[in-house]
Amino acid sequence: MNQDIAAILLSEEEIAKKVAQIGAQISQDYTGKDLLIVVILKGSVIFAADLLRKITIPVNIDFIAVSSYGTGVKTSGVVKIIKDLNCSIEHKHVLIIEDILDSGKTLHHLTELLKTRNPESVQVCTLLNKPDRREEEVDVLYSGFDIPDEFVVGYGLDYAENYRNLPYIGILKREVYEK
Ligand code: IMP
Ligand code: MG
Repeated sequence: MNQDIAAILLSEEEIAKKVAQIGAQISQDYTGKDLLIVVILKGSVIFAADLLRKITIPVNIDFIAVSSYGTGVKTSGVVKIIKDLNCSIEHKHVLIIEDILDSGKTLHHLTELLKTRNPESVQVCTLLNKPDRREEEVDVLYSGFDIPDEFVVGYGLDYAENYRNLPYIGILKREVYEK
């Protein structure tokens, strides 16, 4: 295990099982619909890559990059679009893929923004959810795991751009960010 990780919260196997379940559910729910998966860069990339291969219906993909964090562990509350979508979402069923729902600010702002672009629907799929930390209301259609209020990294999630490549989700040692 990486020396900065206090404990493994979710193993590769647990994650894979959940991702397969969510992929099957999405495939069922969106059958016959024009589905556009919107991947939020960069944290959701690994989740999305695995999830997409568990989706068995036709699907389009696009990417958006937003920033609210800088390099810290708490949101600044200001959500900025760093890279917008390349395609139009008009009349499409949009499913946003997020790594973790924390205060809810990112997804609240993003869903409100995308709804102004005349899509058929906008829904959210998040791998992780920290319910205790919610400040803004967000409707979530698919949620992998509810987790406690700990800072976690791995499987795409970072601290100061590190640890994204860990294959599991681990709790980061406090001493790493409380220096
Ligand atoms: P929110 O806007 O507060 O809901 O924050 C969502 C974003 O914060 C996620 O996309 C992550 O980039 C980041 N984030 C929140 N909690 C964690 C965590 O425990 N580890 C890593 N990133 C996190
Ligand atoms: Mg991040």
